Amino acid sequence: MSEPIAIGLMGFGVVGTGLLSAIEQKAAALQQRIGRRVVVRKVLVRDPLKPRQLPDGITLTTDADDILSDSAIPIVVEVMGGEHPAREYINRALHEGKHVVTANKEVMAKHGPELLSHAHEHGVLLRYEGSVGGGIPIISPLQDDLAVNNILAVNAIINGTTNYMLTRMSSEGLDYETVLSEARRLGYAEPDPSADVDGVDAAFKLAILASLAFRTTVRDTDVYREGIRRLTPADFRYASELGYAIKLLATARANEGKVQARVHPAFLPLNNPLAKVDGVYNAVELEGDLVDWAMFHGPGAGPIPTSSAILADVIAIACAIAAGGLACTAPAIDAQLPIEPMDDLRTKYYIRLSVFDRPGVMAQVAKELGDGGVSLASVIQKEVGEDGRVAEIVITTHVAQEAAVQDALRRIAALDSVDQVSNLVRVEERIA
Ligand SMILES: NC(=O)c1ccc[n+]([C@@H]2O[C@H](COP(=O)([O-])OP(=O)(O)OC[C@H]3O[C@@H](n4cnc5c(N)ncnc54)[C@H](OP(=O)(O)O)[C@@H]3O)[C@@H](O)[C@H]2O)c1
Repeated sequence: MSEPIAIGLMGFGVVGTGLLSAIEQKAAALQQRIGRRVVVRKVLVRDPLKPRQLPDGITLTTDADDILSDSAIPIVVEVMGGEHPAREYINRALHEGKHVVTANKEVMAKHGPELLSHAHEHGVLLRYEGSVGGGIPIISPLQDDLAVNNILAVNAIINGTTNYMLTRMSSEGLDYETVLSEARRLGYAEPDPSADVDGVDAAFKLAILASLAFRTTVRDTDVYREGIRRLTPADFRYASELGYAIKLLATARANEGKVQARVHPAFLPLNNPLAKVDGVYNAVELEGDLVDWAMFHGPGAGPIPTSSAILADVIAIACAIAAGGLACTAPAIDAQLPIEPMDDLRTKYYIRLSVFDRPGVMAQVAKELGDGGVSLASVIQKEVGEDGRVAEIVITTHVAQEAAVQDALRRIAALDSVDQVSNLVRVEERIA
């Protein structure tokens, strides 16, 4: 009988332990599919003293070299997380002629195109299905099933924590702090939630998707990013009154030779499929010239769904090894498309203002917007303060240019009759 295919597992935390049990549970199915057994030989961790349960035959190590220089290990699975030393270990593994599977969105968002090109140079595969959307297949469809399409746009909800929080704010009328404590209690939010609530995690994932979709380098720093901290129950009430849901949208579009990539809260029409993605679920919608559009929806995280994605990558690599070589390399990410500045964005806007209830204030606000070429689609005015001194004005605009809207808002904020610009949210009608 043929020798088993050996895996070196880097990281044995939430995902690593889930993966090991999925490999045990699916041993027969993996062997049947690949024609050889797949076994984890060595596991790399940071803390050797942590109590862990490792089956016999698996060596625990704190020295990456034990895996990287072991010629009997052809596949490294990296589930350590973080940029360093994960990037260096992946790079070294590729140089040693090992195939790599990673679920590390940070490394792939910051260094994916270079690492993929190293993999290509060394005739090995680097696969990363688990890095975006947990168990949802999305990298593989972009690489393989939709390979012949020109992808025009990627629209996604790719952060489960914020989607859970926004769903609760919308359905229960709760405020940001209340839903954040609830998300922490349920284990959906970290003690420091900034990577989720400030859109950092979603920007990593969007950079990975946009790079692959448009075959060009899009880094996390190229993604315009706004988080969800400014949203209040009032925004959800007005959204519902106007026929929208509020979601943390991750969207990228290739347009006239440029790429636009942004993560921010957005009003989505209630009949938009992404508006109906609730709780910790994720969804990615793709627009392609042949497929028209396709949507992928499912659990965006969790050790078992993520193991499903990682094992699909392991199968693809192990089948290639068992067959004696690679049938096909991954598509090159070799275009150098410029990133479109956010100022050039054209979309609709929702603007919420707190104003002093004086005659003519609405006319002043409308004049500032009009001077910037921003035309109004609707206006809602409500008295808010008990004394009737302060009122809330909610405006939606027709399609306008981001720079013009931001300029007008700066002038509006400076008006004596305006207490504050409370929020601005982009209204995305054309998505899906
Ligand atoms: N959790 C999810 O649902 C999920 C879903 C999709 C993708 N991912 C991605 O999967 C990766 C792992 O996530 P996780 O939740 O499993 O993380 P985790 O629970 O924190 O586990 C990290 C593991 O890596 C080890 N490690 C970290 N730094 C190390 C170093 N410098 N040297 C050696 N070992 C090191 C840790 O060792 P010790 O055990 O000794 O601390 C631990 O075993 C991340 O990139 C994450 O973004 C996670």
